[in-house]
Amino acid sequence: MKALSRHAEAIRPSPTLSLNARLNERVRAGDRVLNLCVGEPDFPMPEGGRTAALNAIAAGADRYTDVAGLPELRARIQRKLHEENGLDVEPDRIVVSAGAKHALYNAFFVLCEEGDEVIVPAPYWVTYPEQVRAVGATPVIVPTDAGTEYKITAELLEAAVTARTKAVVLNSPGNPTGATYTERELAELAEVIERHDLYVVEDLIYEHFFYQDGTVPSMTAFPSLRERTVLVNGLSKACAMTGWRVGYTVASRRISALVRRIQSQSTSNVTAAAQHAALGALDDVPWRLLAGYRERRDAAHARLTAIEGIECLLPTGAFYLFPDVSRLLGGRHGAVPLATADDFCDRLLETTGVGLVPGTAFGTPGHVRITYATDPAVVAEGLDRLAAFAREISPAAARTAS
Ligand SMILES: Cc1ncc(COP(=O)(O)O)c(C=O)c1O
Repeated sequence: MKALSRHAEAIRPSPTLSLNARLNERVRAGDRVLNLCVGEPDFPMPEGGRTAALNAIAAGADRYTDVAGLPELRARIQRKLHEENGLDVEPDRIVVSAGAKHALYNAFFVLCEEGDEVIVPAPYWVTYPEQVRAVGATPVIVPTDAGTEYKITAELLEAAVTARTKAVVLNSPGNPTGATYTERELAELAEVIERHDLYVVEDLIYEHFFYQDGTVPSMTAFPSLRERTVLVNGLSKACAMTGWRVGYTVASRRISALVRRIQSQSTSNVTAAAQHAALGALDDVPWRLLAGYRERRDAAHARLTAIEGIECLLPTGAFYLFPDVSRLLGGRHGAVPLATADDFCDRLLETTGVGLVPGTAFGTPGHVRITYATDPAVVAEGLDRLAAFAREISPAAARTAS
């Protein structure tokens, strides 16, 4: 038979989703697994969203809506952007999609074509390079390290730009590191972006999980960058509505018209009831619960960094810790050599039931990702088991390797 699409064959499955499936399988088999891999908050979705969805279903919200989303939902997002992001846009620049993931896919589809390069700073959220590949473009991974708090700098960006570069991806607060860009860092990046005539895909999905004063700085604050930026956001994280699949893009009229067009020929509108749920939820965001995440971060970070051999920056946002465990690699746990973070995570899961994601999934070996969005008692117990596991790693071998 003829070959299938090269683009499709080139895409790797989401490592975080497959790991999650593996952990859930173990839970079903009766194992006591402490899942510190999940990328969703543990609080319930806003009651206002649930009620709005139920009312909409009862009232017969059964039909197609506008492809880009209900006018009242886009008007609500418009108000949100004005109030929370200081961004004034017309509703025709907003397209509601099936989650931020879908919104991102639309953005790459509209911006890129074969031969284009998209700069993706690593550590990156697993999906960016795969979506770039899926639309036929080439992800150009730019590694960063703790020295720049895992953020791309203007110098690193400048060095990665070629004549083929079309766009750069920015995710702040970032998954998996929790790093956020300051206004000054964004200004420096903006200068390079403008000079090389690039687009920016800016993913703000974790904007409400921000542990410094004020709001998360965004590229859209620079008037000269507004037409070049596709802002991506959604309700999955702040409203704990991962299952409802509501996200959106905010972009120039030109880009938004194409996003709308490709969505009209692919998925059409997001499920009508989900849009009503989003409308209700946006008026009822659980700010009080989000505030508790700063304490969760502090508690988890203190516990983690007390473990010898593990180093971790204090994240300024999101709900992940991304420690460097390379000093523990090269050793053995029992008879098993731990050469890589993948070996480390496999062995940890096997012997302690704690599930972490290896940094290789995010393009950064020698690290692991730990979520603290789950029950704090589970996080504490998971980190205690991790500490015991780290103590059992043969120290001599670990030191020689470091
Ligand atoms: C950085 C980042 N962007 C986007 C998403 C996807 O969000 P959604 O559930 O809205 O598709 C995630 C989910 O984990 C994420 O971590």
